[in-house]
Amino acid sequence: MTTTRTILFATAEMAPVARVGGMGLATAGLVKELRAQGADVTVVMPDYGGVELLDETSIALDVPDWCGPTRARRGRLLGADGAAGDEIVLIDRIGLARPHPYVDPTTGVAWPDNDWRFIGFGAAVAALARAVEPDVLHLNDWHTAAAVGFLPDPPPIVLTIHTLGYQGVTSADWLQRFEVEPWRFVWYDVANPLVGAIRAADRIIAVSPNYATEILTEEQGMGMHAELAARGDAVVGILNGIDTDEWNPAVDELIPRRYAVDGESGDDLDQGRLAARTAILERAGWDDHGGPLLGVVTRLVDQKGVDRILGLAPYLEAMNARIAILGSGTPELTDWVRAEAATRPDRIWAETSSYDEPLAHLIFAGADLFLIPSRFEPCGLAQMQAMAYGAIPIGTPVGGLVDTIIDIDDDARNGTGLLCRTADTAGLVDAVHRGIRALRVSSRRRAMQRRGMTTDWSWAAPAGRHLEVYEAAVSENL
Ligand code: GLC
Repeated sequence: MTTTRTILFATAEMAPVARVGGMGLATAGLVKELRAQGADVTVVMPDYGGVELLDETSIALDVPDWCGPTRARRGRLLGADGAAGDEIVLIDRIGLARPHPYVDPTTGVAWPDNDWRFIGFGAAVAALARAVEPDVLHLNDWHTAAAVGFLPDPPPIVLTIHTLGYQGVTSADWLQRFEVEPWRFVWYDVANPLVGAIRAADRIIAVSPNYATEILTEEQGMGMHAELAARGDAVVGILNGIDTDEWNPAVDELIPRRYAVDGESGDDLDQGRLAARTAILERAGWDDHGGPLLGVVTRLVDQKGVDRILGLAPYLEAMNARIAILGSGTPELTDWVRAEAATRPDRIWAETSSYDEPLAHLIFAGADLFLIPSRFEPCGLAQMQAMAYGAIPIGTPVGGLVDTIIDIDDDARNGTGLLCRTADTAGLVDAVHRGIRALRVSSRRRAMQRRGMTTDWSWAAPAGRHLEVYEAAVSENL
Protein backbone atom coordinates (compact mmCIF):
# COMPACT_ATOMS: atom_id res chain seq x y z
CA MET A 1 0.00 0.00 0.00
CA THR A 2 2.71 2.46 0.93
CA THR A 3 5.48 3.47 -1.42
CA THR A 4 9.05 3.33 -0.19
CA ARG A 5 10.07 6.83 0.74
CA THR A 6 13.62 8.09 0.56
CA ILE A 7 14.47 10.09 3.63
CA LEU A 8 17.59 12.22 3.98
CA PHE A 9 18.08 12.30 7.75
CA ALA A 10 20.46 15.01 8.97
CA THR A 11 21.76 15.02 12.53
CA ALA A 12 24.78 16.18 14.53
CA GLU A 13 24.65 13.02 16.66
CA MET A 14 23.82 9.40 16.15
CA ALA A 15 25.15 6.57 18.30
CA PRO A 16 27.60 4.96 18.02
CA VAL A 17 29.25 7.38 15.54
CA ALA A 18 28.85 10.43 17.78
CA ARG A 19 26.80 10.72 20.89
CA VAL A 20 26.66 13.47 23.49
CA GLY A 21 23.17 13.14 24.91
CA GLY A 22 19.80 11.57 24.32
CA MET A 23 19.59 12.92 20.79
CA GLY A 24 22.32 10.51 19.70
CA LEU A 25 20.42 7.53 21.08
CA ALA A 26 17.06 8.74 19.80
CA THR A 27 18.28 9.24 16.23
CA ALA A 28 19.96 5.80 16.22
CA GLY A 29 16.84 4.06 17.51
CA LEU A 30 14.51 5.89 15.15
CA VAL A 31 16.61 5.32 12.02
CA LYS A 32 16.99 1.62 12.79
CA GLU A 33 13.24 1.19 13.15
CA LEU A 34 12.34 3.36 10.14
CA ARG A 35 14.53 1.08 8.03
CA ALA A 36 12.93 -1.99 9.60
CA GLN A 37 9.55 -0.58 8.57
CA GLY A 38 10.70 -0.17 4.99
CA ALA A 39 11.80 3.45 4.68
CA ASP A 40 14.96 4.12 2.66
CA VAL A 41 16.90 6.33 5.08
CA THR A 42 20.22 8.02 4.31
CA VAL A 43 21.83 9.50 7.41
CA VAL A 44 24.07 12.52 6.96
CA MET A 45 26.31 13.69 9.80
CA PRO A 46 29.33 15.92 10.28
CA ASP A 47 32.64 14.08 9.94
CA TYR A 48 34.15 14.64 13.39
CA GLY A 49 37.11 12.50 12.39
CA GLY A 50 38.29 8.98 13.08
CA VAL A 51 35.39 7.14 11.42
CA GLU A 52 36.45 4.44 9.01
CA LEU A 53 34.05 3.64 6.16
CA LEU A 54 33.95 0.55 3.98
CA ASP A 55 33.26 0.81 0.25
CA GLU A 56 33.85 4.54 0.50
CA THR A 57 32.96 6.89 -2.32
CA SER A 58 33.29 10.64 -2.42
CA ILE A 59 30.64 13.12 -3.55
CA ALA A 60 31.62 16.68 -4.44
CA LEU A 61 29.21 19.19 -2.94
CA ASP A 62 28.27 22.54 -4.35
CA VAL A 63 28.53 24.75 -1.28
CA PRO A 64 29.11 28.51 -0.92
CA ASP A 65 32.76 29.61 -1.01
CA TRP A 66 32.82 30.64 2.65
CA CYS A 67 32.32 26.96 3.58
CA GLY A 68 35.73 26.03 2.23
CA PRO A 69 36.43 22.70 0.51
CA THR A 70 33.58 20.33 1.32
CA ARG A 71 32.74 16.84 0.17
CA ALA A 72 30.61 13.96 1.32
CA ARG A 73 32.15 10.60 2.20
CA ARG A 74 29.63 7.90 1.57
CA GLY A 75 30.18 4.35 2.78
CA ARG A 76 29.33 1.66 5.26
CA LEU A 77 30.08 1.82 8.94
CA LEU A 78 32.10 -0.99 10.42
CA GLY A 79 29.51 -3.21 12.04
CA ALA A 80 30.03 -5.62 14.91
CA ASP A 81 32.67 -8.28 14.06
CA GLY A 82 34.16 -5.99 11.39
CA ALA A 83 31.45 -6.69 8.81
CA ALA A 84 30.01 -3.87 6.72
CA GLY A 85 27.21 -2.20 8.65
CA ASP A 86 24.76 0.56 7.83
CA GLU A 87 25.38 3.13 5.14
CA ILE A 88 26.12 6.71 6.17
CA VAL A 89 27.20 9.98 4.59
CA LEU A 90 29.75 12.08 6.48
CA ILE A 91 30.32 15.72 5.60
CA ASP A 92 34.04 16.21 5.39
CA ARG A 93 34.85 19.86 5.81
CA ILE A 94 37.61 21.77 7.53
CA GLY A 95 36.56 22.68 11.03
CA LEU A 96 34.08 19.88 11.56
CA ALA A 97 36.66 17.33 12.70
CA ARG A 98 37.03 17.88 16.45
CA PRO A 99 37.38 15.65 19.53
CA HIS A 100 33.87 16.68 20.64
CA PRO A 101 30.96 17.85 18.47
CA TYR A 102 30.14 21.03 20.37
CA VAL A 103 32.62 21.90 23.11
CA ASP A 104 36.29 21.84 23.92
CA PRO A 105 36.38 18.75 26.14
CA THR A 106 39.17 20.13 28.29
CA THR A 107 37.25 23.25 29.30
CA GLY A 108 33.62 22.43 28.55
CA VAL A 109 33.40 25.70 26.60
CA ALA A 110 31.62 25.75 23.20
CA TRP A 111 33.90 25.89 20.14
CA PRO A 112 34.01 29.57 19.14
CA ASP A 113 33.26 28.78 15.48
CA ASN A 114 30.19 26.61 15.99
CA ASP A 115 28.14 29.00 13.84
CA TRP A 116 30.53 28.56 10.92
CA ARG A 117 30.77 24.81 11.54
CA PHE A 118 27.05 24.08 11.73
CA ILE A 119 25.62 26.69 9.38
CA GLY A 120 28.18 25.33 6.93
CA PHE A 121 27.05 21.79 7.76
CA GLY A 122 23.50 22.92 6.95
CA ALA A 123 24.68 24.31 3.62
CA ALA A 124 26.36 20.96 2.87
CA VAL A 125 23.19 19.05 3.82
CA ALA A 126 21.26 21.28 1.42
CA ALA A 127 23.81 20.61 -1.34
CA LEU A 128 23.46 16.89 -0.73
CA ALA A 129 19.66 17.18 -0.78
CA ARG A 130 19.87 18.97 -4.13
CA ALA A 131 22.04 16.13 -5.43
CA VAL A 132 20.08 13.13 -4.13
CA GLU A 133 16.56 14.62 -4.22
CA PRO A 134 15.02 12.73 -1.30
CA ASP A 135 11.25 12.47 -0.82
CA VAL A 136 11.71 14.06 2.60
CA LEU A 137 14.50 15.97 4.31
CA HIS A 138 14.40 15.31 8.06
CA LEU A 139 16.33 17.84 10.15
CA ASN A 140 17.21 17.51 13.84
CA ASP A 141 17.76 20.52 16.12
CA TRP A 142 19.59 23.72 15.23
CA HIS A 143 22.78 22.06 13.96
CA THR A 144 20.97 21.07 10.77
CA ALA A 145 18.44 23.92 10.61
CA ALA A 146 20.43 26.22 8.32
CA ALA A 147 19.83 23.79 5.43
CA VAL A 148 16.52 25.54 4.74
CA GLY A 149 18.46 28.68 3.84
CA PHE A 150 20.15 26.94 0.91
CA LEU A 151 17.25 25.14 -0.78
CA PRO A 152 15.55 27.24 -3.49
CA ASP A 153 13.33 24.33 -4.44
CA PRO A 154 13.10 22.33 -1.19
CA PRO A 155 11.78 18.82 -0.74
CA PRO A 156 9.17 18.36 2.03
CA ILE A 157 10.96 19.20 5.28
CA VAL A 158 10.40 17.71 8.74
CA LEU A 159 12.17 19.26 11.72
CA THR A 160 12.50 17.44 15.05
CA ILE A 161 13.04 19.49 18.16
CA HIS A 162 15.00 17.54 20.74
CA THR A 163 15.90 20.58 22.80
CA LEU A 164 14.49 24.02 22.07
CA GLY A 165 17.03 25.75 24.28
CA TYR A 166 19.81 25.47 21.73
CA GLN A 167 19.06 27.67 18.73
CA GLY A 168 22.48 28.47 17.33
CA VAL A 169 21.96 32.22 17.80
CA THR A 170 24.78 34.20 16.26
CA SER A 171 25.70 37.57 14.78
CA ALA A 172 23.34 39.19 12.24
CA ASP A 173 26.30 39.28 9.85
CA TRP A 174 25.38 35.71 9.02
CA LEU A 175 22.06 36.75 7.49
CA GLN A 176 23.69 37.81 4.24
CA ARG A 177 25.07 34.30 3.75
CA PHE A 178 21.69 32.59 3.60
CA GLU A 179 20.73 32.27 -0.04
CA VAL A 180 17.02 31.55 0.26
CA GLU A 181 14.60 33.76 2.22
CA PRO A 182 17.23 35.09 4.64
CA TRP A 183 14.49 36.95 6.52
CA ARG A 184 13.44 33.62 7.97
CA PHE A 185 16.55 33.64 10.13
CA VAL A 186 16.07 37.14 11.48
CA TRP A 187 15.55 37.11 15.21
CA TYR A 188 15.49 40.52 16.84
CA ASP A 189 18.98 41.80 16.07
CA VAL A 190 20.68 38.44 15.62
CA ALA A 191 20.59 35.45 13.26
CA ASN A 192 18.82 32.37 14.60
CA PRO A 193 19.21 29.13 12.59
CA LEU A 194 16.51 27.26 14.49
CA VAL A 195 13.80 29.85 13.96
CA GLY A 196 14.52 29.69 10.22
CA ALA A 197 13.71 25.98 10.18
CA ILE A 198 10.67 26.44 12.44
CA ARG A 199 9.29 28.92 9.92
CA ALA A 200 10.18 26.82 6.87
CA ALA A 201 9.50 23.19 7.85
CA ASP A 202 6.37 21.43 6.66
CA ARG A 203 6.08 19.52 9.92
CA ILE A 204 7.70 20.08 13.31
CA ILE A 205 7.99 17.12 15.64
CA ALA A 206 8.45 17.64 19.38
CA VAL A 207 9.86 14.55 21.08
CA SER A 208 6.86 13.98 23.35
CA PRO A 209 3.19 15.01 23.25
CA ASN A 210 3.49 16.99 26.47
CA TYR A 211 6.56 18.83 25.19
CA ALA A 212 4.59 19.71 22.04
CA THR A 213 2.17 21.65 24.24
CA GLU A 214 4.76 23.04 26.67
CA ILE A 215 6.77 24.69 23.91
CA LEU A 216 3.74 26.77 22.99
CA THR A 217 3.88 28.46 26.39
CA GLU A 218 5.96 31.45 27.31
CA GLU A 219 7.53 29.63 30.29
CA GLN A 220 8.86 26.69 28.26
CA GLY A 221 8.95 28.14 24.76
CA MET A 222 12.49 29.53 25.02
CA GLY A 223 11.31 32.55 23.06
CA MET A 224 9.90 30.35 20.26
CA HIS A 225 6.37 29.85 21.64
CA ALA A 226 4.67 32.39 19.36
CA GLU A 227 6.59 31.15 16.32
CA LEU A 228 5.57 27.59 17.08
CA ALA A 229 1.98 28.52 17.85
CA ALA A 230 1.83 30.27 14.49
CA ARG A 231 2.57 26.92 12.84
CA GLY A 232 -0.67 25.45 14.23
CA ASP A 233 -1.25 21.81 13.30
CA ALA A 234 2.18 21.54 11.72
CA VAL A 235 3.53 20.98 15.26
CA VAL A 236 3.07 17.40 16.45
CA GLY A 237 4.30 15.49 19.49
CA ILE A 238 5.65 11.96 19.09
CA LEU A 239 7.11 10.20 22.10
CA ASN A 240 10.59 8.81 21.49
CA GLY A 241 11.20 5.13 21.98
CA ILE A 242 14.23 3.23 23.19
CA ASP A 243 16.09 0.47 21.39
CA THR A 244 14.58 -2.52 23.15
CA ASP A 245 17.09 -4.92 21.59
CA GLU A 246 19.80 -3.11 23.46
CA TRP A 247 17.85 -2.20 26.60
CA ASN A 248 16.42 -5.51 27.61
CA PRO A 249 17.48 -7.25 30.85
CA ALA A 250 16.52 -10.66 29.43
CA VAL A 251 19.35 -10.55 26.88
CA ASP A 252 21.70 -7.88 28.29
CA GLU A 253 25.33 -9.03 28.26
CA LEU A 254 26.44 -6.09 30.39
CA ILE A 255 24.65 -7.13 33.58
CA PRO A 256 25.83 -9.99 35.78
CA ARG A 257 22.64 -12.02 35.61
CA ARG A 258 19.89 -11.73 33.01
CA TYR A 259 16.28 -11.58 34.10
CA ALA A 260 12.75 -11.04 32.85
CA VAL A 261 9.59 -9.87 34.51
CA ASP A 262 8.09 -13.34 34.28
CA GLY A 263 11.21 -15.45 34.25
CA GLU A 264 11.19 -19.21 34.65
CA SER A 265 11.36 -19.11 38.40
CA GLY A 266 9.27 -16.52 40.22
CA ASP A 267 12.35 -14.97 41.79
CA ASP A 268 14.22 -14.46 38.51
CA LEU A 269 13.60 -10.71 38.58
CA ASP A 270 14.70 -10.26 42.18
CA GLN A 271 17.78 -12.44 41.70
CA GLY A 272 18.85 -10.61 38.58
CA ARG A 273 18.34 -7.23 40.17
CA LEU A 274 20.16 -8.30 43.33
CA ALA A 275 23.19 -9.39 41.28
CA ALA A 276 23.32 -5.96 39.62
CA ARG A 277 22.91 -4.23 42.97
CA THR A 278 25.76 -6.25 44.44
CA ALA A 279 27.99 -5.28 41.52
CA ILE A 280 27.25 -1.57 42.04
CA LEU A 281 27.87 -1.79 45.80
CA GLU A 282 31.17 -3.56 45.19
CA ARG A 283 32.25 -0.88 42.77
CA ALA A 284 31.32 1.80 45.31
CA GLY A 285 33.06 -0.10 48.11
CA TRP A 286 29.87 -0.42 50.14
CA ASP A 287 28.50 -3.34 52.19
CA ASP A 288 24.89 -4.21 51.60
CA HIS A 289 22.89 -2.95 54.54
CA GLY A 290 19.61 -3.47 52.72
CA GLY A 291 18.62 0.19 52.39
CA PRO A 292 17.20 1.62 49.18
CA LEU A 293 19.64 2.30 46.37
CA LEU A 294 18.90 5.41 44.31
CA GLY A 295 20.36 5.56 40.81
CA VAL A 296 21.18 8.47 38.52
CA VAL A 297 22.43 8.28 34.92
CA THR A 298 22.63 11.75 33.44
CA ARG A 299 24.56 14.48 31.78
CA LEU A 300 25.71 16.81 34.56
CA VAL A 301 24.10 19.94 33.17
CA ASP A 302 21.73 22.45 34.69
CA GLN A 303 18.72 21.04 32.79
CA LYS A 304 18.93 17.74 34.65
CA GLY A 305 18.34 19.14 38.16
CA VAL A 306 21.67 17.94 39.54
CA ASP A 307 21.33 20.51 42.33
CA ARG A 308 18.11 18.84 43.42
CA ILE A 309 19.76 15.43 43.50
CA LEU A 310 22.58 16.78 45.64
CA GLY A 311 19.94 18.51 47.77
CA LEU A 312 18.95 15.02 48.92
CA ALA A 313 22.33 14.52 50.60
CA PRO A 314 21.37 15.70 54.10
CA TYR A 315 18.32 13.37 54.11
CA LEU A 316 20.04 10.16 53.02
CA GLU A 317 21.10 9.07 56.51
CA ALA A 318 17.57 9.27 57.88
CA MET A 319 16.24 7.44 54.81
CA ASN A 320 19.02 4.88 55.11
CA ALA A 321 19.41 5.41 51.37
CA ARG A 322 22.45 5.62 49.09
CA ILE A 323 22.92 7.18 45.68
CA ALA A 324 25.01 5.88 42.79
CA ILE A 325 25.55 8.53 40.11
CA LEU A 326 26.91 8.10 36.60
CA GLY A 327 27.36 11.34 34.72
CA SER A 328 29.71 13.77 33.10
CA GLY A 329 29.16 17.34 32.04
CA THR A 330 30.06 20.86 33.04
CA PRO A 331 33.16 21.34 35.21
CA GLU A 332 31.16 23.17 37.93
CA LEU A 333 28.54 20.45 38.36
CA THR A 334 31.14 17.69 38.07
CA ASP A 335 33.21 19.28 40.85
CA TRP A 336 30.12 19.70 42.99
CA VAL A 337 29.10 16.04 42.58
CA ARG A 338 32.64 14.91 43.40
CA ALA A 339 32.76 17.14 46.46
CA GLU A 340 29.46 15.77 47.81
CA ALA A 341 30.61 12.21 47.19
CA ALA A 342 33.85 12.97 49.06
CA THR A 343 31.95 14.48 51.99
CA ARG A 344 29.56 11.53 52.35
CA PRO A 345 31.46 8.55 50.97
CA ASP A 346 29.14 6.11 52.74
CA ARG A 347 26.05 7.63 51.07
CA ILE A 348 27.02 9.01 47.66
CA TRP A 349 29.18 7.40 45.01
CA ALA A 350 29.78 8.92 41.61
CA GLU A 351 31.52 7.99 38.38
CA THR A 352 32.05 11.32 36.67
CA SER A 353 35.14 10.79 34.54
CA SER A 354 33.47 9.37 31.46
CA TYR A 355 30.27 7.85 30.17
CA ASP A 356 30.50 4.21 31.20
CA GLU A 357 28.03 2.13 29.21
CA PRO A 358 28.23 -1.06 31.33
CA LEU A 359 27.73 0.99 34.49
CA ALA A 360 24.63 2.63 33.01
CA HIS A 361 23.14 -0.83 32.45
CA LEU A 362 24.08 -1.87 35.99
CA ILE A 363 22.41 1.17 37.52
CA PHE A 364 19.15 0.61 35.63
CA ALA A 365 19.24 -3.04 36.69
CA GLY A 366 20.35 -2.56 40.28
CA ALA A 367 18.82 0.69 41.55
CA ASP A 368 15.52 0.53 43.41
CA LEU A 369 14.55 4.09 42.54
CA PHE A 370 15.82 6.02 39.52
CA LEU A 371 15.99 9.82 39.79
CA ILE A 372 15.39 12.21 36.89
CA PRO A 373 14.34 15.54 38.47
CA SER A 374 14.88 17.67 35.35
CA ARG A 375 14.05 21.37 35.07
CA PHE A 376 12.76 20.61 31.58
CA GLU A 377 12.83 17.31 29.72
CA PRO A 378 11.67 17.24 26.11
CA CYS A 379 11.32 13.47 26.24
CA GLY A 380 13.84 11.81 28.50
CA LEU A 381 15.02 8.31 27.69
CA ALA A 382 16.56 7.26 31.00
CA GLN A 383 13.22 6.89 32.78
CA MET A 384 12.11 4.47 30.04
CA GLN A 385 15.36 2.53 30.26
CA ALA A 386 14.94 2.40 34.05
CA MET A 387 11.40 1.05 33.77
CA ALA A 388 12.46 -1.55 31.20
CA TYR A 389 14.84 -2.87 33.88
CA GLY A 390 12.40 -2.71 36.79
CA ALA A 391 13.84 0.38 38.50
CA ILE A 392 11.08 2.71 39.68
CA PRO A 393 11.45 6.20 38.21
CA ILE A 394 11.05 9.47 40.11
CA GLY A 395 10.73 12.50 37.87
CA THR A 396 9.54 16.08 37.82
CA PRO A 397 6.18 16.78 36.14
CA VAL A 398 7.69 18.18 32.95
CA GLY A 399 7.94 17.23 29.29
CA GLY A 400 8.05 13.57 28.38
CA LEU A 401 8.31 12.55 32.04
CA VAL A 402 4.59 13.31 32.32
CA ASP A 403 3.88 11.13 29.27
CA THR A 404 5.84 8.16 30.59
CA ILE A 405 5.56 8.06 34.41
CA ILE A 406 2.25 7.44 36.19
CA ASP A 407 2.37 8.46 39.85
CA ILE A 408 1.45 5.53 42.08
CA ASP A 409 -0.15 7.79 44.69
CA ASP A 410 -2.42 9.36 42.06
CA ASP A 411 -3.30 6.11 40.36
CA ALA A 412 -2.73 3.00 42.46
CA ARG A 413 -3.94 0.64 39.72
CA ASN A 414 -1.69 1.93 36.95
CA GLY A 415 1.16 3.65 38.77
CA THR A 416 4.68 3.05 37.49
CA GLY A 417 6.66 5.61 39.46
CA LEU A 418 6.51 8.95 41.19
CA LEU A 419 6.16 12.50 39.88
CA CYS A 420 7.45 15.24 42.18
CA ARG A 421 4.61 17.50 43.33
CA THR A 422 6.80 20.55 43.26
CA ALA A 423 9.78 21.02 40.99
CA ASP A 424 12.40 21.63 43.68
CA THR A 425 14.47 19.77 46.25
CA ALA A 426 11.53 19.58 48.68
CA GLY A 427 9.41 17.99 45.95
CA LEU A 428 12.14 15.46 45.26
CA VAL A 429 12.63 14.64 48.95
CA ASP A 430 8.89 14.07 49.26
CA ALA A 431 8.79 11.88 46.15
CA VAL A 432 11.74 9.78 47.35
CA HIS A 433 9.94 9.26 50.68
CA ARG A 434 6.83 8.20 48.81
CA GLY A 435 8.91 5.95 46.58
CA ILE A 436 10.56 4.24 49.53
CA ARG A 437 7.13 3.68 51.03
CA ALA A 438 5.91 2.13 47.76
CA LEU A 439 8.90 -0.23 47.74
CA ARG A 440 8.18 -1.56 51.22
CA VAL A 441 5.11 -3.54 50.23
CA SER A 442 6.58 -6.13 47.90
CA SER A 443 3.33 -6.85 46.02
CA ARG A 444 2.99 -3.17 45.28
CA ARG A 445 6.60 -2.83 44.22
CA ARG A 446 6.30 -5.88 41.98
CA ALA A 447 3.11 -4.53 40.37
CA MET A 448 4.83 -1.23 39.55
CA GLN A 449 7.85 -3.04 38.14
CA ARG A 450 5.66 -5.32 36.07
CA ARG A 451 3.82 -2.38 34.51
CA GLY A 452 7.04 -0.57 33.71
CA MET A 453 8.70 -3.67 32.28
CA THR A 454 5.78 -4.79 30.14
CA THR A 455 5.01 -1.40 28.59
CA ASP A 456 6.15 -1.28 24.97
CA TRP A 457 8.88 1.39 25.00
CA SER A 458 10.18 0.35 21.59
CA TRP A 459 10.43 2.55 18.51
CA ALA A 460 7.84 0.46 16.64
CA ALA A 461 4.84 2.74 17.17
CA PRO A 462 6.79 6.05 17.17
CA ALA A 463 8.53 5.14 13.90
CA GLY A 464 5.14 4.36 12.39
CA ARG A 465 3.97 7.82 13.46
CA HIS A 466 7.02 9.33 11.77
CA LEU A 467 6.11 7.57 8.52
CA GLU A 468 2.65 9.13 8.76
CA VAL A 469 4.18 12.56 9.27
CA TYR A 470 6.41 12.03 6.22
CA GLU A 471 3.36 11.07 4.15
CA ALA A 472 1.47 14.14 5.30
CA ALA A 473 4.41 16.38 4.40
CA VAL A 474 4.77 14.73 0.99
CA SER A 475 1.07 14.90 0.10
CA GLU A 476 0.94 18.59 0.97
CA ASN A 477 3.83 19.25 -1.37
CA LEU A 478 2.36 17.39 -4.35
C1 GLC B 1 17.48 15.79 24.29
C2 GLC B 1 16.43 16.06 25.35
C3 GLC B 1 15.85 14.77 25.91
C4 GLC B 1 15.39 13.87 24.77
C5 GLC B 1 16.54 13.66 23.79
C6 GLC B 1 16.15 12.82 22.61
O1 GLC B 1 18.61 15.23 24.87
O2 GLC B 1 16.98 16.83 26.42
O3 GLC B 1 14.75 15.03 26.76
O4 GLC B 1 15.00 12.62 25.30
O5 GLC B 1 16.99 14.91 23.29
O6 GLC B 1 15.10 13.37 21.86
